[in-house]
Amino acid sequence: MTQVLERAAAAQQYTIRPLGAALGAEVLGLDLAQPVGDELIARMKEALNQHGVLCFRDQDLSEPQQIAFSKLWGPLEDFPEENKTVAAPTVYNVANVSAEGEHLPDTDHRVIFQKVNALWHTDSSYRYIPAYASLLYGIEVLPESAEGGRTGFSSMVAAYEALSPEMKARIEPLHMVHSYEHGRRVYGSLPPLSNFEKNAVPPVSHPLVRVHLDARGRRSLYITANAGNEISGMPLEEGQALHAQLIEHIARPEFCYFHPWKKGDLVVWDNRTTLHKAQRYDMARYRRVLRRTTVAGEGPVFGPYSQAVRAAGY
Ligand code: OGA
Ligand code: MN
Repeated sequence: MTQVLERAAAAQQYTIRPLGAALGAEVLGLDLAQPVGDELIARMKEALNQHGVLCFRDQDLSEPQQIAFSKLWGPLEDFPEENKTVAAPTVYNVANVSAEGEHLPDTDHRVIFQKVNALWHTDSSYRYIPAYASLLYGIEVLPESAEGGRTGFSSMVAAYEALSPEMKARIEPLHMVHSYEHGRRVYGSLPPLSNFEKNAVPPVSHPLVRVHLDARGRRSLYITANAGNEISGMPLEEGQALHAQLIEHIARPEFCYFHPWKKGDLVVWDNRTTLHKAQRYDMARYRRVLRRTTVAGEGPVFGPYSQAVRAAGY
């Protein structure tokens, strides 16, 4: 019986349509609550490599169904925090509403965490092995007439390619410092990290230029604004100026797509090659409830000088 159902799901017809010029596509016609076969996941992974962001429209997913679908992409990350989970440690409530349904005030730190998300970033970059993909599901979304509340995405492949030859050469050997605790520098009212959290996610550094061995040495920028602004080995202020210049560069509209949420959207993005951020909105007026699961990465971030990259000849 299961096999028959799996074949039926694998045979589901779907359409992929680009959403933005630089990245993003919507996938129509799939019901992800049905069993999904390996073959379909393989095709979706290819589509994600190509488009960076995929929006599966018109889904109706319970939390266990979202977890089950997410696991088909790879092992899930647990969140390092103790206060953001709904039921499972693999689920992050991206909301200005509590798990019990209460619209939270601006000062609640669960709301302030949403503001940290309003800076350009890639998920879990504060880990030695950062995330592969994130899956964000729209439960309560803003009305179409409301301002803001979209999720912005930027293609780090396009942003890297558009850099001047001088800038490419300058950043080639550089690393950036990524620290989970950086959000506390930006929003001092957040409660300090617990010792458990400090130990779970100590600062790390990653190359600014990411080389993708599984994509014939394709390169992309790897940078964040919500987990740091320091460049390893550079005088602090000089590094921060370079960081600010790169963040301004990646925000250029030609690299970006801003997703207006519809209820039932399941948006999947590739954290290796894209950045994203929450667009600000009137948090006191509107409820916004999204549910996120995160697929772990397969290995550390390789840069141009990583041994594995040089051994591969890129
Ligand atoms: C996230 C995130 C952006 C948003 O869930 O990782 O950054 O628009 N969300 O809420
Ligand atoms: Mn995020």
